[in-house]
Amino acid sequence: MSILVTDRLQRPLHDLRVSVTDRCNFRCPYCMPAEIFGHDYEFMPRDEILRFEEILRVLRATVPLGVRKLRITGGEPLLRKDLHRLIRGAREIQGLEDIALTTNGTLLERTAVSLRQAGLSRLTVSLDSVDAEVFSVMNGHRLSLERVLEGIQAAESAGFQRIKINCVVQKGVNDHTMVDLAKHFRGSGHIVRFIEYMDVGTRNGWKLDEVLTAEEMLTRLQKEIPLEPIESNYTGEVARRYRYTDGSGEIGLITSVSKPFCGDCSRARLTTDGRLVTCLFAKGGTDLRTLLRSGGSDEALRDRIADIWSARTDRYSEERTQMSESDQIQYAEQNSRVEMYEVGG
Ligand code: GTP
Ligand code: 5AD
Ligand code: SF4
Ligand code: SF4
Repeated sequence: MSILVTDRLQRPLHDLRVSVTDRCNFRCPYCMPAEIFGHDYEFMPRDEILRFEEILRVLRATVPLGVRKLRITGGEPLLRKDLHRLIRGAREIQGLEDIALTTNGTLLERTAVSLRQAGLSRLTVSLDSVDAEVFSVMNGHRLSLERVLEGIQAAESAGFQRIKINCVVQKGVNDHTMVDLAKHFRGSGHIVRFIEYMDVGTRNGWKLDEVLTAEEMLTRLQKEIPLEPIESNYTGEVARRYRYTDGSGEIGLITSVSKPFCGDCSRARLTTDGRLVTCLFAKGGTDLRTLLRSGGSDEALRDRIADIWSARTDRYSEERTQMSESDQIQYAEQNSRVEMYEVGG
């Protein structure tokens, strides 16, 4: 039975983004800075983490409410053992049309084939630069660029096409290498998407002057490779699409800071420990795990999620554009927020 829900701003629930682990083998300073996430950092204990069967129950409860797309995230989701089992389980859920995964690519070489066989539809690889030095700074000096590029190749060989390559652009850190990244993947069929650096979480000491706007990015790219805008694939798509005028491919620009897209936001997020989060900038989310583990029925779970979504008013990125920069920083400091590695972007 389908009982589609909309929130208080008439936005449907269409995507569920599930973080399957809070761990990562990178220490990107804008997400898990090494000073905070050192050797003695305590990640979530195993019994707090949702089991695959619990995640699948949440998914089954959300499909009648409107969810059609699952995106698996982390942390680094490929650190979660036997992830292909979750994908296989999700594949069996009727009504779920699209299963995507966002990864840093380092473990693709050994997992790409099993992910494909399990039924993963689409792949996004986070890759901030193809300059080895800059890449190393952007991932906190962890695994090599080579390893990620090999991972992407393994994914291609396993049959993944039109892989999305996500690049967070941080002014003064990697912005001078963005044109090279575009050129690297031009003609490959893959789609590089440049993302404005956001004030997500509380750990990255975000400042507005580190944001290169999508407009500025476009100007820089246009100088080297002529581009023209193209239609969105679907309502609510976060990236604005452009194609190379010579037909050699397309790129995307994600304008989360300069032109927020809350008006069409139909994304709910499930944290590793089972909280439902209705905005990337939400405080902590609503616990579903207790209900899952205390014998609550599937109907009770579905109703709980429907209630949470129906009450949703979040539009943080739009609200932020109306705040002064000092108010934004003060807001970030004073409010607890979910971290990027808890909700996977
Ligand atoms: P497709 O399904 O391929 O269209 O991917 P997607 O754009 O939904 O997912 P992806 O995780 O690749 O999103 C790219 C980036 O956009 C994320 O890493 C975030 O930085 C940003 N982003 C995605 N969703 C949101 C959102 O709801 N709010 C904000 N502010 N940023 C978002
Ligand atoms: N701003 C924009 N994107 C971010 N990501 C992580 N932190 C930020 C941020 N502060 C992106 C990663 C990855 C996805 C999971 O989120 O690069 O592509
Ligand atoms: Fe890991 Fe992604 Fe966070 Fe980098 S941005 S530390 S790859 S979860
Ligand atoms: Fe959605 Fe919140 Fe992002 Fe706006 S800021 S697009 S409401 S997740």
